[in-house]
Amino acid sequence: MQLTYYGHATLSIGVNGKTILFDPFFTGNPFAKSLDIEKIKADYIFITHGHGDHTADLVNVAKKTGAMCVGAAEVVGWLKKNGVDNAHPLNHGGPVAFDFGKVRAVNAIHSSSFADGSYAGNPLGYVFTTSEGDFYMAGDTALTMDMQLIPLWARLQFAVMPIGGNYTMDPADAIHASDFVKCDKVVGVHYNTWPIIAIDTEKAMAEFTAAGKQLLLPRPGETIEV
Ligand code: NI
Ligand code: MN
Repeated sequence: MQLTYYGHATLSIGVNGKTILFDPFFTGNPFAKSLDIEKIKADYIFITHGHGDHTADLVNVAKKTGAMCVGAAEVVGWLKKNGVDNAHPLNHGGPVAFDFGKVRAVNAIHSSSFADGSYAGNPLGYVFTTSEGDFYMAGDTALTMDMQLIPLWARLQFAVMPIGGNYTMDPADAIHASDFVKCDKVVGVHYNTWPIIAIDTEKAMAEFTAAGKQLLLPRPGETIEV
């Protein structure tokens, strides 16, 4: 599978011929300044929660790409109010079958509201099980015991986790999370966008290596094999 990182927590993953975009945040994303939003492709857009740094460009990109949007029922309700009808509502549970594989929405310890203050349902993580491999999109979350459930459902090939601290896990907690989900290959996101979530990336990578794990930190705009 290929993963393209757009900075902060925005990225896309190619699986079974489909492009799945996560949490489109380009306007106001300091890493995405040189990015041409018109060129962003997506067959699906998964939304982890309503915060602006995950949804700033959601309506815009959904309308441009015609992608099917998947998120909490409240997020889908908000999308419909904003003129996006191609959307699938879900909540903790599943699995839900799509043409690229199955998805289970799992707990994320965070909050979720839109920039206008409206309620956006539960913040979610997603566990994908596909014929090309399984993976976990943690979303914005603290470390939670619920992550220990994930190996019941999937043998993860890689996991995308926030590592910037302050609002989410930091690198040390992401190492614990990696143990909980039984996956040693972690793609780190949600760090260094602003000073409040700045981390020492060299130190984080060394800590992962010392724990026998791999921390992948693609540059914004970079595509990596996962
Ligand atoms: Ni958030
Ligand atoms: Mn966030």
